[in-house]
Amino acid sequence: MLTNQNILLAISGGIAAYKCAELTRRLKERGANVRVVMTHAAKAFITPLTMQAVSANPVCDDLLDPAAEAAMGHIELAKWADLILVAPATADVIARINAGIANDLLTTVILASDAPLALAPAMNQQMYRAQATQDNIANLTKRGAKIWGPAQGEQACGDVGPGRMPEPMELVQLTELYFAADKGILDGITLTITAGPTREALDPVRFISNHSSGKMGYAIAAAAIDAGASVNLISGKVAIPTPQKAIVTNVDSALEMHAAALSLAPKSDIFIACAAVADYRPVDVADQKIKKSADTMTITMTKNPDIVADVAALTEDRPYTVGFAAETQDVEKYAKGKMQRKNLDMICANDVSKGGQGFNADANALSVFWQGGSEMLPLTDKKQLGKALIALILSQFKRV
Ligand code: PMT
Repeated sequence: MLTNQNILLAISGGIAAYKCAELTRRLKERGANVRVVMTHAAKAFITPLTMQAVSANPVCDDLLDPAAEAAMGHIELAKWADLILVAPATADVIARINAGIANDLLTTVILASDAPLALAPAMNQQMYRAQATQDNIANLTKRGAKIWGPAQGEQACGDVGPGRMPEPMELVQLTELYFAADKGILDGITLTITAGPTREALDPVRFISNHSSGKMGYAIAAAAIDAGASVNLISGKVAIPTPQKAIVTNVDSALEMHAAALSLAPKSDIFIACAAVADYRPVDVADQKIKKSADTMTITMTKNPDIVADVAALTEDRPYTVGFAAETQDVEKYAKGKMQRKNLDMICANDVSKGGQGFNADANALSVFWQGGSEMLPLTDKKQLGKALIALILSQFKRV
């Protein structure tokens, strides 16, 4: 999938730099041309000679090196790249890129390039959580940079938390999916997606709902539109902008969402159920506002229809059907159970017990399962994740 893609791997000085040899090997295996720029600090963790050997290209590490400039100057390098991947991206290099500082070769090339930029943050968890780093990342994201990671876990310094560079294969997948999602790969495809929460009315002014913001579903819808699909977006009430070119059906309740989904799904090639649908609704909806009276109150609820299961059960014009699973424990077991019970082609599980991801967060991570396969899409902002998921769905959908 990376044939002839020019990837400029920009390595800054973190311990995860030692993984860049493996990362380069895997990118090249998939057909990419890889050139490497390194900061001086990066050379403390992996040698230019190693990176030269695995990339099969000279490594650039000095802005003022006449020989290197004569071969492929920094401006040429900046123009050559189809993607610049900064991995590992230390707190320092993220700050310098954000500030537009060009005080070494790596930051100069980035400033001189209009190539898409992806950063794989890697640092101590407290440095990552620091407001300055978060502001820098938020700013770079606003300018269109992709932020891949960081992963959670035990760190080289002994701390535990967010700050690990994603594994080389995860970065390779994100790179592949990035290039795939940008190529009009869904031209001619109609995709219907549910997003946001449902509201189950109790009376004219009250309802039962959940914390879904619609961000995940809207990001997938936007990625599908970017990839060329015609997109029906069935949305619960949210407070975020609608993706341009989406054909939107606004709904309140699960019953309304069910009716819209069952009408649009048979006309679709792919159906994705990302909405957080209420499993139950109140049996009685009061015509007038319920008055305060007794100290306790009992609400009798009845089961809502399962929208994604009913779409998957269509016998005619059944679309490729993708569900989500919001879990707080035993994520894989429960997600696979839902995939079987609801007869889905694919399920995307998110762990909604973790802070900073899932409901109403800007980032998410997904464990995606289908018959005979699985793929982990690591923590990243929902826009990137949407692209990655669209490419993954397409890779499986074509095989059905
Ligand atoms: O909207 P955000 O703030 O960005 O948050 C994103 C999200 C956390 C809501 C999203 O990533 C997610 O997990 N969506 C599914 C939430 C959910 O309801 O999960 P579930 O495990 O309860 O349901 C499993 C699947 O069945 C889902 O595809 C759901 O849409 C579907 N379902 C559930 C009940 C029902 N009556 N009909 C359905 O179609």
